[in-house]
Amino acid sequence: MLFLFILLLCACESHNIRGDHAQGHVQLDNRVGVGSMIPKIAPLGAPQVQQPFLPLLAPSPLTPFTNISIPKLSGQCTLNFTTAKSLLSVTAIDCWEFFAPYLANVMCCPQLEATLTVLIGQSSKHTNALALNGTVAKHCLSDVEQILMGQGASGDLKNICSINSSNLTEASCPVKHVNDFYDMVDTSKLLIACEDIDPVKECCYQICHNAILEAATTIASKGSNVLDLPEHSIRVNDCRNIVLRWIASKLDPSHAKKVLRGLSNCRLNKVCPLVLPEPKQVAKGCGHGIRNKTVCCNAMESYVSHVQKQTFVTNLQALGCAETLAMKLKKSNVTEDVYSLCHITLKDFSPQVAIQEFGCLLPSLPSDAIFDSTTGVTFICDLNDNIPAPWPSTSQVATSSCNKSVNIPALPAAASGQSCLYSHDVLIFLLVNLFFLVMALM
Ligand SMILES: *[C@@H]1O[C@H](CO)[C@@H](O)[C@H](O)[C@H]1NC(C)=O
Ligand SMILES: *[C@@H]1O[C@H](CO)[C@@H](O)[C@H](O)[C@H]1NC(C)=O
Ligand SMILES: *[C@@H]1O[C@H](CO)[C@@H](O)[C@H](O)[C@H]1NC(C)=O
Ligand SMILES: *[C@@H]1O[C@H](CO)[C@@H](O)[C@H](O)[C@H]1NC(C)=O
Ligand SMILES: *[C@@H]1O[C@H](CO)[C@@H](O)[C@H](O)[C@H]1NC(C)=O
Ligand SMILES: *[C@@H]1O[C@H](CO)[C@@H](O)[C@H](O)[C@H]1NC(C)=O
Ligand SMILES: *[C@@H]1O[C@H](CO)[C@@H](O)[C@H](O)[C@H]1NC(C)=O
Ligand SMILES: *[C@@H]1O[C@H](CO)[C@@H](O)[C@H](O)[C@H]1NC(C)=O
Repeated sequence: MLFLFILLLCACESHNIRGDHAQGHVQLDNRVGVGSMIPKIAPLGAPQVQQPFLPLLAPSPLTPFTNISIPKLSGQCTLNFTTAKSLLSVTAIDCWEFFAPYLANVMCCPQLEATLTVLIGQSSKHTNALALNGTVAKHCLSDVEQILMGQGASGDLKNICSINSSNLTEASCPVKHVNDFYDMVDTSKLLIACEDIDPVKECCYQICHNAILEAATTIASKGSNVLDLPEHSIRVNDCRNIVLRWIASKLDPSHAKKVLRGLSNCRLNKVCPLVLPEPKQVAKGCGHGIRNKTVCCNAMESYVSHVQKQTFVTNLQALGCAETLAMKLKKSNVTEDVYSLCHITLKDFSPQVAIQEFGCLLPSLPSDAIFDSTTGVTFICDLNDNIPAPWPSTSQVATSSCNKSVNIPALPAAASGQSCLYSHDVLIFLLVNLFFLVMALM
């Protein structure tokens, strides 16, 4: 493996659906540039380049997936990989090579989990079991890894996504047979709640989520009256996987994937995935009344620039991160709105484009990465411009993600926002140099 560095091209396209809305693609280019360690930076000062692709280090079309290796399978896994063939290819791209850690939280791991759920759900139609036994689970997880790696995915997905073979079993859930499931759960109610979810409304009203929780709680209680809290909640969570697999057995795979990803998006968007260390320097520079704005904002910028290297985040996650950081700052006696003082925007919480200092926030309903033999791997960023990070006022109650998506005009209000057509009148290409990432890997 000699991929020495990864370049990320961020191509922004203006989006004519709403005047204020812009989205862009991020392109990943795995071309090797041995000897040319410093990638050429295109003249990006001019933001309106009218060509669809920036010929960078790649004189010929990119071919990262043309050399798909034949995976060595165990022969011991009972899953039928054909049933989720297209989900597996999408997973391989979402979890592509070095990028997997950067897309792990929002794209790669949710997609991997959905794929596993669909595989087990589909196989239950023949085996009547909504879980694999321990031995088979080991073989199957290893086979899935082999298949994905053969299509370009990272070889470290088990760690990146904290999945091990026990995640394919029933774990502590007392129900795994389809018949038992039907005996205990109001399956028609569950299916009605979950067969079609609106990814935006579901996050507000949680209709499917609640139906799943109810079913999971029901089957978790089987054969036990000990409702010891921590143990019980682990059980319910394990049973939740059983319920998800049952749902996946009732829907066709691509539809099941939509439902599963919709559900995981609701969970994801509620939590800031960034590790936010104690802002000690900022507290020093900005606390107890700001004496020197330069000092304060330098501390703030330095803090943010460290935090932003961690992972891509969605716009709603960035909002959550801004909120969490603001709380920490307030606790350290930073009382003034340092976000507005120092012009901190939501995009400052995402990895930055090298020169432009232009973040790539993923949409709150991120679509999968796409592979195309001419452009490489691309994914969509929400480049809505510079929404200032809101400094929560004390009177303000924390808004729900439901209300957030309504209140912030730049956040996509509907799922349709993403899959929409782009108008190609303005194309802006940004080069993101994730050199630091590769340096870290070498
Ligand atoms: C394709 O894969 C084969 C076997 O894994 C390897 O020998 C060959 O160098 C690869 N070709 C390219 C262009 O990566
Ligand atoms: C696997 O699934 C595919 C598509 O659903 C089906 O055509 C094929 O017969 C299945 N293979 C086995 C061994 O069940
Ligand atoms: C696990 O399941 C496989 C296939 O269903 C079966 O052959 C094997 O005996 C089972 N192993 C255990 C330990 O139950
Ligand atoms: C899976 O991980 C859990 C905790 O992360 C651990 O308790 C368990 O032993 C692991 N199972 C296997 C099969 O490695
Ligand atoms: C896998 O199971 C372990 C516990 O065994 C759990 O901590 C972890 O979150 C699970 N991973 C996923 C992706 O569900
Ligand atoms: C603020 O601090 C900087 C660097 O320590 C210093 O150069 C500047 O003069 C200070 N400004 C004021 C208004 O004190
Ligand atoms: C905040 O200020 C109060 C009063 O000035 C002080 O007691 C407290 O230790 C300060 N907290 C931090 C984290 O600096
Ligand atoms: C949205 O906010 C309004 C008040 O601003 C509140 O009454 C309503 O319950 C919220 N909706 C949700 C789903 O949280």
